[in-house]
Amino acid sequence: MKQTELSQAFKDFFQNDENPRFFFAPGRINLIGEHTDYNGGHVFPAAISFGTYAAARKRPDQKLRFYSMNFQEKGIIECELADLSFSSEHDWANFPKGMIHHFVKNGFSISHGMDILFYGNIPNGAGLSSSASIEMVTGVVLESLFDLEIDRLRMIQLGQDVENQYIGVNSGIMDQFAIGKGKKDFAILLDCQTLAYSYAPVELVDHEIVIINSNKQRTLAGSKYNERRAQCEEALSDLRNELHVNSLGELTGENFEQFKHLIKNDTNRKRAKHAVYENERTLLALKELEQGNIEAFGQLMNASHISLRDDYAVTGAELDHIAAMAWRHPGVVGARMTGAGFGGCAIAIVHRAQIESFKENLIDSYTKEFGFSPSFYEAKISDGAKELTEEF
Ligand code: GLA
Repeated sequence: MKQTELSQAFKDFFQNDENPRFFFAPGRINLIGEHTDYNGGHVFPAAISFGTYAAARKRPDQKLRFYSMNFQEKGIIECELADLSFSSEHDWANFPKGMIHHFVKNGFSISHGMDILFYGNIPNGAGLSSSASIEMVTGVVLESLFDLEIDRLRMIQLGQDVENQYIGVNSGIMDQFAIGKGKKDFAILLDCQTLAYSYAPVELVDHEIVIINSNKQRTLAGSKYNERRAQCEEALSDLRNELHVNSLGELTGENFEQFKHLIKNDTNRKRAKHAVYENERTLLALKELEQGNIEAFGQLMNASHISLRDDYAVTGAELDHIAAMAWRHPGVVGARMTGAGFGGCAIAIVHRAQIESFKENLIDSYTKEFGFSPSFYEAKISDGAKELTEEF
């Protein structure tokens, strides 16, 4: 989307001739470290060049007007600053509304209403964090339009509060963190227990990251996600009967083997096993990437998928097909689902010379199996949420 188009759309839809300011927040992929964030483990995500644009202006009154070019049939959604409570009628606009609500609740002064137009080029519900992207783009709109002094980490945490308290999904901090702190060409190794983080260059030599959307609708993703989280909490609470640990992320594989009998329920034991070993894989993966061992990195991605399939049970037939087909294809060093799962996207690290044949073969076998086709995105690893001050 070009600036001139976004500007024109803002003026047309809001009937407002004044120039808006422009903002962008990326989506994210997660290279490895899945369902570890709320278990106090490590994650290894990166912000991508697809995301959400916003064009915004303050209004003289107290009215908030939201418009999304992705949900044009919903029209302009309106509310007053004085009533920011969740409303199912407001549909997608609950994400920006929730962000404004949490800013106000935390003492940030939002003195005026606004007109905000959104345009997203990440598919909704595909597991690339379209919701965290819209939250974080709203965060930078508020920061800039109202000259707020807000630490980036605080903004990230407010985004997570919106998901947890306003929307009702008990998600961890990974998505908002990756989107808030993304850096071009770098992935972020984040310790979700302490929030210590570092950037690692993603240098894949002759390889590219291919994002594959299964195009499988993510039904019930929120409730199954919350269920997984509760199962991990139960497992932790069983372990704590004899062990002094604050989170599953504090355990090594060895510790786990020694104490896993304390977890009473078989399913919970499998969930915890994934969380513990996935955290170990994530730390190993960073080392392999730093040493340029792309093959070894790819093997860890594959092992991550298998664990998410067999122990965490969040992959599903479509993502399993994509991963298995990728593992067999020449030039693919690793492939796994990315994000929460239950449909959504997978990522594969593919040698440049093989990308086209990989896509063709996958479209062919996938369509035969499921009757619909996957989509592909070639995203670059990008910067985090910010105001766009140069022409785009
Ligand atoms: C979703 C959540 C994240 C994280 C992933 C799984 O994207 O928002 O916090 O838990 O799922 O790794």
